[in-house]
Amino acid sequence: MSERIFIGVAWPYANGPLHLGHIAGAYLPPDIFARYHRAKGNEVLMVSGSDQHGTPITIRAEQEGKSPAEIVAGYHQQFLESWRRLGISFDLYTTTGTANHAQVAQDLFLNLLGKGYIYRDTVKQPYCPNCRRFLPDRYVEGTCPHCDFAEARGDQCDQCGKPLNAAELVSPRCRVCGTRPQFRDSEHFFLKLTAFRDRLLAWVLKQHHWRPNVLNFTRRYLEEGLKDRAITRDIDWGIPLPLEGYQGKRLYVWFEAVIGYLSASKEWAKKIGDDEKWRLFWQGEAKSYYFLGKDNIPFHTIIWPAMLMGYGGLNLPYDVPANEYLTIEGSKLSSSRNWAVWLPDYLARYDPDPLRYLLSINMPETGDTDFSWREFVRRNNDELVATYGNRAQRVLTFVSRHFDGRVPTCEDLGVEDNRESKNTQPTQLEASCYAILNDVDRLLSQCKFKLAIKMIMTVAQEANRFLEETSPWKVIKEDRPAAARSLYQALKIITQLKTMLYPFLPFSSQKLHEYLGFEGNIEDYGWQWQELPPGQRLLPPEPLFKKLDESLVAEETSRLG
Ligand code: MF3
Ligand code: ZN
Repeated sequence: MSERIFIGVAWPYANGPLHLGHIAGAYLPPDIFARYHRAKGNEVLMVSGSDQHGTPITIRAEQEGKSPAEIVAGYHQQFLESWRRLGISFDLYTTTGTANHAQVAQDLFLNLLGKGYIYRDTVKQPYCPNCRRFLPDRYVEGTCPHCDFAEARGDQCDQCGKPLNAAELVSPRCRVCGTRPQFRDSEHFFLKLTAFRDRLLAWVLKQHHWRPNVLNFTRRYLEEGLKDRAITRDIDWGIPLPLEGYQGKRLYVWFEAVIGYLSASKEWAKKIGDDEKWRLFWQGEAKSYYFLGKDNIPFHTIIWPAMLMGYGGLNLPYDVPANEYLTIEGSKLSSSRNWAVWLPDYLARYDPDPLRYLLSINMPETGDTDFSWREFVRRNNDELVATYGNRAQRVLTFVSRHFDGRVPTCEDLGVEDNRESKNTQPTQLEASCYAILNDVDRLLSQCKFKLAIKMIMTVAQEANRFLEETSPWKVIKEDRPAAARSLYQALKIITQLKTMLYPFLPFSSQKLHEYLGFEGNIEDYGWQWQELPPGQRLLPPEPLFKKLDESLVAEETSRLG
């Protein structure tokens, strides 16, 4: 029975280029998951967009002497191009700058206000007497009251991950001029999170399938830290309040950005000409998955679910498989220190699949992992090229040469007919490949991507051992049917490999699909054991992956910092 899968992907701030930390943490995993589900024949809706509002954008605009609108337009285009080249297959990648999004966000605001889940209060807001302005979020820095981190921001602490209000910071200072802010009265709207505490806790305690880090963080937060949060700001870049008399205020970026999941689903439905179709993913039987880096956990396991509970009638998250961090060459990634590998740079120089491979097999799923150029070259050359790509190409080329450009025919194989070639006892190699296909199926459905790709690679290794043992390259001279059978075995395993690797390595898998003589889109062939018809015409194969020169390690490492 086909399932319906909603995939929400964290909305990246359009204030700077994407780097490998973003990709490993939040963007590659949902793409693997979406491709897997689509191949299974499930109905998938995967949405995200550029997060255009808030102080991360205005600070960058001030630094570059541009308007916020110019900043976000440029990066949004760049992100779209990156998704295309890396093969991140969103059903819709939009922005929080659309009229549709503003309308959906304002509707949610009014709905919660009407139900008393949003209330007005006068609060002390940080005001810089030197800059003569209220200081929203990231314009204030100070020491975290929870973990003593000295560089915490007015919206969140990067060390312990807890969301903060500026007034909670110890020794606050204005980010622009360093002055200690005063706290002046300002009227704001608050989301009554405390009203949802018990419901949230009861709901969270039932999520046994969540990753332990996500579950534990959320639980601890609910048990210790839940406070009502201001959801408006004194700022002029963002979505206006749908009320008279609040001209200088905007909806808080986090409050409206999470609403993007819903507004993007509605935009998608309109785009495909079926306006109400979003409902199937939000109100019908569907599972919602949210993919993000660990700093975004509380917004997706507490704040967004609370908003959904308050609004009513919409599906809560089913799973929030947040990833940990990727370090670069052993050190914490830092955009400002240029200790990062920028995605546009990578894509300008290398193919997408080798990166997808490395970040999959080294995914920071349950703990931080490290990216190094040395490992990139090693895994590309030893694993992608040697274990998989070149072997596959060699088998295909050899078969083409000796069997007239076709998969060996029944006659070559010494079997009576097509049916017989299917019905013979599966060999040990086939049986173990079949078992792994099922294991990988289960692992992918549970978002265990790293283990899944490791298991797939053992199939490639096993196929190589089989080829070494049966040595068709030599045997062909003495016993042509025996060589044909061993090559046919190898081709059958390669056929399953392209299916299993497709979610991870879509570009090379599509090519292999064609070299094996299959037509059209590999995804349409589904996720199951696939027969390879004897006699099927093959296409002349090209290398699936390029061998990389060791010298690039030094060259790339020198670009860091
Ligand atoms: N822009 C935020 C960040 O980069 C993520 C927003 S996720 C959303 O950390 F769901 F709120 F959109
Ligand atoms: Zn902290």
